[in-house]
Amino acid sequence: MSKLNLSPRRAAKLYAKLEKEREKGKTTFKPYKKHEVVCRERKDGKPGFRYEFVNGLSRLVTNANNAVYRIDGTLTPDRMKVRGVIGKRGLPKQRLMKYEIYPVSRSPADAANKEYRCASKAGLLHVKKPVIIGNKSYLTMQELPGRELAAILKEDQSLSDKRLSIPARLELTIALLEALRDQVTRQGLLHRDIKPENILVDFIDGKPQIYLVDYGFSVEADQNDKKSAGSYGYAANELVQGLWSLQSPKTDIFAMACVLVQIWRISPDVILDYKYAQFAASRGLRHDHPAPLRGSLETMFGGIKHELDKDWKRHIKATLYNMMDPDPLVRTGVDEAISLFRDLMPEHKAPLGSPAPICSSAACSSDMPVLPEEESISGDFGRHSFFAPPPVQIKASPEMEVEDAPVVQTKDLPPKAHGDCCFLL
Ligand SMILES: Nc1ncnc2c1ncn2[C@@H]1O[C@H](COP(=O)(O)OP(=O)(O)OP(=O)(O)O)[C@@H](O)[C@H]1O
Ligand SMILES: [Mg+2]
Repeated sequence: MSKLNLSPRRAAKLYAKLEKEREKGKTTFKPYKKHEVVCRERKDGKPGFRYEFVNGLSRLVTNANNAVYRIDGTLTPDRMKVRGVIGKRGLPKQRLMKYEIYPVSRSPADAANKEYRCASKAGLLHVKKPVIIGNKSYLTMQELPGRELAAILKEDQSLSDKRLSIPARLELTIALLEALRDQVTRQGLLHRDIKPENILVDFIDGKPQIYLVDYGFSVEADQNDKKSAGSYGYAANELVQGLWSLQSPKTDIFAMACVLVQIWRISPDVILDYKYAQFAASRGLRHDHPAPLRGSLETMFGGIKHELDKDWKRHIKATLYNMMDPDPLVRTGVDEAISLFRDLMPEHKAPLGSPAPICSSAACSSDMPVLPEEESISGDFGRHSFFAPPPVQIKASPEMEVEDAPVVQTKDLPPKAHGDCCFLL
């Protein structure tokens, strides 16, 4: 890192050297062992180039075809801006580089530029124009604070002292829906990959701040590409049944409902079965439709300390059930869902159980309200990306209602299906 603390004179010298290489046609460089340098154009057609020093040892995530790294410094003509410092309001002024290798079925330019456009509209990521080299793209963006919701859910289910309180669950639910409304729906976007791994949660003074990330599958809502994109376990009926032209903000609300049922403690086994059932359906391993998740909502609320009031259970269940309606035209929209959950807030109704103690453990990175242990359920939430198979026959609407279809068991699937990723555009 110290290597990047360059004087203005040395920064200018290094910049001139890299510019010479760029003029010869190079776009990535390896001047130091630890850093890979990526040259990018500036945003909005501004003149000149920037050199991002990507820390090869700081990989946040790696999948088969992509990885996210931290950027340690940005070189401009006259200075090296060292990243990783804390900025205003405690937000890290860290940047990330998302590196992606595209399959032959996707045009890297189309895919990377679409992600750039959608992430720009979402607003918080401050993405820069992507660099596209062959079948690879490099996308620079702001590192947002918080932890993946997937990690919080996992802790909620397995670690006693990290269990969410009832008020925290309700606040989280409302904050997630508001984030979907503000960062996606009102920006004219379909996110198309809402899932706990793509949601960052930061607790400030106990209040959840939500950041939706990963606009890799997103489209502008008015430019529905009629392609299917999403993740197993979160895909709405219109995706699973190939009715892709019916994609709408209601498709994201379905996925968000699949997230919310986890906050309200649906059985992890149900979630796993549902993921694999959707995977199996997409691969033609079964010809009927996976049993809908909404048929298993009675397994919710297990392991939540302080028994929820019967009316609240009914209210939450009914709201989530309607957010998962197979018919997108009937499905509850984001504004209605927010208002229905807000009806449960203490200012509207009786208090939500007893107040939760705040986590005091040093290991608790945030001031997330949690409850002491009672019992634990373990669950594993993988990253199963999902693109549906070629279009199938449009079914008449009664067949969209598939409540009684049996859930496929994980053992029915080839072992390779576990954790498998599917990218078909
Ligand atoms: N701007 C960001 N700030 C902080 N963390 C981020 C940001 N963008 C991505 N991440 C983290 O990196 C992970 C992978 O990024 P992203 O989801 O964009 O990549 P992906 O290739 O689509 O991954 P996947 O295939 O698993 O969905 C996210 O799940 C999140 O934890
Ligand atoms: Mg992702």
